[in-house]
Amino acid sequence: MIREVLRMGDGRLLRRAQPVEAFGTPALAALIEDMRDTMRHLTGAGLAAPQIGVDLRVVIFGGGPSPRYPDASVVPDTVLINPVLTPLVDEEEGGWEGCLSVPGLRGWVPRWTQLHYTGFDASGVLIERVATGFHARVVQHECDHLDGVLYPMRVRDFSRFGYTDVLFPDAQVADD
Ligand code: NI
Repeated sequence: MIREVLRMGDGRLLRRAQPVEAFGTPALAALIEDMRDTMRHLTGAGLAAPQIGVDLRVVIFGGGPSPRYPDASVVPDTVLINPVLTPLVDEEEGGWEGCLSVPGLRGWVPRWTQLHYTGFDASGVLIERVATGFHARVVQHECDHLDGVLYPMRVRDFSRFGYTDVLFPDAQVADD
């Protein structure tokens, strides 16, 4: 079921979400299905449970290049629960980000270029990966939602934060 995505200003986006304690349950499966339906409907690169008002540490992400991220590399379709991120480098790199909870805007956000992450899938199987580039960026963006952090809070150079259609007048980018 496609769910309503909360928009910035809603206090539910600012909570530190609770860990999932039971895996392989119908409730968890239903949550993940709703998240997938919602992400696909809005052609997002990722979605976090708090964005649909669910206070749990669950994110999904994945997909290839899209209208929103035409230069994106392919990121494996992933359900990641109770994630833990560890940077592997000090180095950060800026890149444009948008968010389904911040429609119509884009901002230039510094992120670690390489990180290690762990978490669990819906059945409770451990996931452990090293991510770089766009994959690393998406994981950081989505996991930030679990700590109540929206990407505008990470923007340092506000001359590179604005409306998508003003920043990129010639681009065929989604209006969100
Ligand atoms: Ni987001």
